[in-house]
Amino acid sequence: MTAAAEAFVGGPHLLHEVHPETATALGTLWLAVTRAGGAVGFAPDAPEDEIHAAAEQAIEDVRAERQQLIVIGADDVFIGTVFLRRGAGPVVAHRATVLRLMVHPDLQGRGWGKALLDAAVAHATDLGLEQLRLSVRGGTDLLTFYPKLGWTEVGVFPAALRLGPGDVRDEHWFQLQL
Ligand SMILES: CC(C)(COP(=O)(O)OP(=O)(O)OC[C@H]1O[C@@H](n2cnc3c(N)ncnc32)[C@H](O)[C@@H]1OP(=O)(O)O)[C@@H](O)C(=O)NCCC(=O)NCCS
Repeated sequence: MTAAAEAFVGGPHLLHEVHPETATALGTLWLAVTRAGGAVGFAPDAPEDEIHAAAEQAIEDVRAERQQLIVIGADDVFIGTVFLRRGAGPVVAHRATVLRLMVHPDLQGRGWGKALLDAAVAHATDLGLEQLRLSVRGGTDLLTFYPKLGWTEVGVFPAALRLGPGDVRDEHWFQLQL
C-alpha cells in the first residue's frame, strides 16, 4: 500500500455492511498475515484456497450476525481486523470471544493492533458484555502482548494445536473482565 493510499484508510470501525469484495479483502489480509507467520488459525504454508474459504465463511457469519467485524481499511483493502463472537446461549450470553486480531505484516508496530483491540473492548462494553476471552498459540511472543494490555492468562490446553508434523503447540487462554 502506498503512503497516499494509507492516508485514506479509516477505522477502526464496526463493519455494518458486507459488500461483494469484503471476503476477498479479508482473505487477502489473512493470507499475508499467515505467510508472515501470524497465529490466526493456519500454519504459515496453509493452502491459499483454504484461507480464502475460511474468509468467505467468516464474512457469512458476519452477514448472519453470528459475529461482528471491526476493521481498519477501506471496502476492498483491509489493513487490520478483529472479530467479536458473542456467547450463543443463555449461560454464556454475557461474554464474547475475540478472534483473528491481525494487522498486515508491512504495517505492524504502528499502534493499529492495540487500536483494534481497544475498539473491540469498547464495542463489547457498549453491548453490555461482562467478559472477553481469546486464545493464543503457544511458542509466540503474543503471550506477552495481551498481558501488557490488561488481559489475564487463565489456563492452558496442552498440545491443543497441531501446525504440522512435529509442530504441536499449547493453546493459552486469556480473559478480560469488562
Ligand atoms: C498481534 C498484532 C495484531 C499486533 O498488532 P501491531 O499493530 O503490530 O501492534 P501495536 O503496534 O498496536 O503494538 C501494541 C503494543 O504491543 C507490542 N506488540 C506488538 N506486537 C507484539 C507481539 N507480537 N508480541 C509482543 N508484543 C507485541 C508493541 O510493542 C506495543 O507495545 P508498546 O505499547 O509497549 O510499544 C500483530 O502483530 C499481528 O497481526 N500479528 C499477526 C497475527 C497474530 O498472530 N494475531 C494474534 C492472534 S491471537
